[in-house]
Amino acid sequence: MSELMKPLSAPFPPENLILVGFMGSGKSTVGRRLARALQWRFVDLDEVIARDAGKPIPKIFEEEGETGFREREQAALKKTLRRTFQVIACGGGIVTVPENIALMKNGGHVFCLRASLQTVRTRVGKDPNRPLAAHLEELFEKRKPMYAQFEHQIDTDMGDQKRVVREIYYQMNCLRAKAWEAVKE
Ligand code: S3P
Repeated sequence: MSELMKPLSAPFPPENLILVGFMGSGKSTVGRRLARALQWRFVDLDEVIARDAGKPIPKIFEEEGETGFREREQAALKKTLRRTFQVIACGGGIVTVPENIALMKNGGHVFCLRASLQTVRTRVGKDPNRPLAAHLEELFEKRKPMYAQFEHQIDTDMGDQKRVVREIYYQMNCLRAKAWEAVKE
């Protein structure tokens, strides 16, 4: 088969960059910058959820509880992953539903932003737009092993978001180059 005729599908992972991490780890800010650098679309999953529900996140929690929110979150994730060339910033609790982990790993390159509890406390405080911010300490411990499931872990504690963006941008380009190499073989 000629080089040009080889099917592209098999080894090529979907061209999406997915950001996960605890509340306040900087997913949205870093994600916006990465999208600009890659010239991809930026998607804030919480915004998709709120738009589709026709109400803000705190109202969803109030009226439908966390279960209702998680259902909406998974539907938004599935819908978003139908497209490619996007940087997707996910809500901190997306990792609490095991099926979401598989969806994300199959849907693009996942990078986990890490921050210490102290940093998160300072960044999040008592944000009224984050209904679960009141349980910061408890959730932080409980979710640690969930975030650890991702291969690419990026420390954001230094506070320099430009450095975080550069690091992910570099790693992402390496991953994409590797995928192209695999296609060529
Ligand atoms: C949540 C984090 C929030 C939002 C919702 C639930 C969580 O997103 O999805 O309030 O369970 O950690 P951010 O991580 O962007 O704050």
